[in-house]
Amino acid sequence: MATGTAAPGRAQIEERHLRTDRWWLSPAVTVTILVAFIVYSTWRAFANDDYFAEPYVSPFYSPCLAENCDSMPLSANAPLFGDWWSLSPALIILIFPLGFRLTCYYYRKAYYRGFWASPSACAVPEPRSKYSGETKFPLIMQNFHRYFFYFAVIVALILSWDVLIAFRDEHGAWGHMGLGTLVLLANVLLIWAYTLSCHSCRHIIGGRLKHFSKHPVRYKYWQFVSRLNTKHMQLAWASLFSVALADLYVYLVASGAFDDPRFF
Ligand code: FES
Repeated sequence: MATGTAAPGRAQIEERHLRTDRWWLSPAVTVTILVAFIVYSTWRAFANDDYFAEPYVSPFYSPCLAENCDSMPLSANAPLFGDWWSLSPALIILIFPLGFRLTCYYYRKAYYRGFWASPSACAVPEPRSKYSGETKFPLIMQNFHRYFFYFAVIVALILSWDVLIAFRDEHGAWGHMGLGTLVLLANVLLIWAYTLSCHSCRHIIGGRLKHFSKHPVRYKYWQFVSRLNTKHMQLAWASLFSVALADLYVYLVASGAFDDPRFF
């Protein structure tokens, strides 16, 4: 069945749609940034090298769940995967933040528009005439988002631990602070802000309550999360950049490209 201005019941005009602004710019930018991130993160995830420069750990490799990790004495290290695991340890853990972002309500909108033109923008018809929404496999799996949220909280807690140990020097003494400490700190703050601004988080905290007045503490949290939620799109992008930059910083220090400037 025809779509857009050619759909049955619409005025018969030649144009496929009537938008004259640069509606294609936003999906084009989305595709460019996401492709760049996918290329970078795939390279880093498979590299299995230069992800640790005491006391800094790349967020792509934390927590390290395989025996074949670099020795990271101060960081969250739990070798649940024995010596049979020969691939990069990042591949074990990245599935959780990846699943969280892939099923995120905002990213869904962004990549449906950017990659699938479904639709590319408001009032621009999609090329397909059939639409089953997210009611069938595989898109019905998007409903797992609320479960990925719980894993995302665990990952954020572990990254917070990584920031804490970034205030210790290589001998374990407190009081160290380098540029890397600040880079990891900025990243974890953005990760927390993005995670707590999640629509599922907002529902978990304040959903299904009939009377806010009977739940004043949850109401307070819900108000806080609701304020963050209005910035979810911005936080989605900011935290995507920050996690890549944090990994890049650790990579540059670990590979010897430059020395971490130390303030204390
Ligand atoms: Fe975006 Fe949950 S809706 S992270």
